[in-house]
Amino acid sequence: MLSVAHKPVLLKEVLSALSIQPGGRYVDCTLGGGGHAMAIIQASAPGGQLLGIDADPEAIRAAAINLSRYTDSVLLVNDNFVNIDTICHHYDFYPVHGILLDLGLSSMQLFDDPRGFSFQYEAALDMRFNPKQEVTAADIVNNYSEIDLAQLIRKYGEEPHSFRIARRIVQSRPVNTTTQLAAIVADAVGGRKGRIHPATRTFQALRIAVNEELEHLEETLDKAVDLLGIGGRLVVISYHSLEDRIVKQFLAKESRDCICPPSIPVCQCKHVASFRLINKKVIVPSEEELDENPRSRSARMRIAERIGSGSTPVKVSNAKFSFNELRRGYSLN
Ligand SMILES: C[S@@+](CC[C@H](N)C(=O)[O-])C[C@H]1O[C@@H](n2cnc3c(N)ncnc32)[C@H](O)[C@@H]1O
Repeated sequence: MLSVAHKPVLLKEVLSALSIQPGGRYVDCTLGGGGHAMAIIQASAPGGQLLGIDADPEAIRAAAINLSRYTDSVLLVNDNFVNIDTICHHYDFYPVHGILLDLGLSSMQLFDDPRGFSFQYEAALDMRFNPKQEVTAADIVNNYSEIDLAQLIRKYGEEPHSFRIARRIVQSRPVNTTTQLAAIVADAVGGRKGRIHPATRTFQALRIAVNEELEHLEETLDKAVDLLGIGGRLVVISYHSLEDRIVKQFLAKESRDCICPPSIPVCQCKHVASFRLINKKVIVPSEEELDENPRSRSARMRIAERIGSGSTPVKVSNAKFSFNELRRGYSLN
């Protein structure tokens, strides 16, 4: 059972970014312990509705307890946010006023749950958000070829010593626990040199690969376009440069009317902007927040507002939203 509290990051900023209104509909794609979700529900009263998604059944359990006072306005769904379109259509929960993605891991997953996300705690190398997923970190570490492993660690960890690390892993197989892997990586790169532990990037790479995080993020951003009503807000908090780059490039593209290469004098693409950027510069935690919650230090928030010019169809739901109907969909599988 999870018990470590997760402090929601950039909480005030998220509420303002979502431009919360009473009676609004919001999707929290990364529910975690429900910290952001609770604040959204409180700020959107009376009548606000929140659909909370998390791939991790333990997170759903924790959030269900924390949000138990708000069962009339909250629906929790244990699923991957890449299925946001199917979920919202299933519950007739669209168009929405806001979509929040607070990516990565919660403190609960890092510190309290023996799923191998952290090299600081002895655990099996699992790293799946949902235990129903097939591939674990141990599967990758023990079965990939040396070259594939090196490329994965380079691509998803931006690790300059990826080839040395991959070779040492292959030589040390079988590798089954977090502390064993951390020691192998530290040994391969010659111990702790910089600010971060030498295994940080390798662990990040494995977690991203196990959960297909970057592919799911890209797909979900695309799907958000059709789910947001005009004026709806998309808010994304990322925690490393690979995620932030995807969000930045997506928003740069989707906030432009033409995306033809500069060499083409007359637009051929007919691309139409679907977002207006709210912050040109990324939003980061204040000094005060960093003091209170050092884990927020790598957070980067981007905000965009759905606009309706052009030909992109915006779906409008005519169905009357029913809380009871939604509550039947409550899922803890
Ligand atoms: C940083 S935590 C969110 C914390 C939350 N905002 C709060 O205030 O408690 C990220 C959460 O997103 C979940 N998550 C990450 N990727 C996911 C995905 N593709 N689909 C669904 N949930 C995901 C994780 O399981 C984790 O619980």
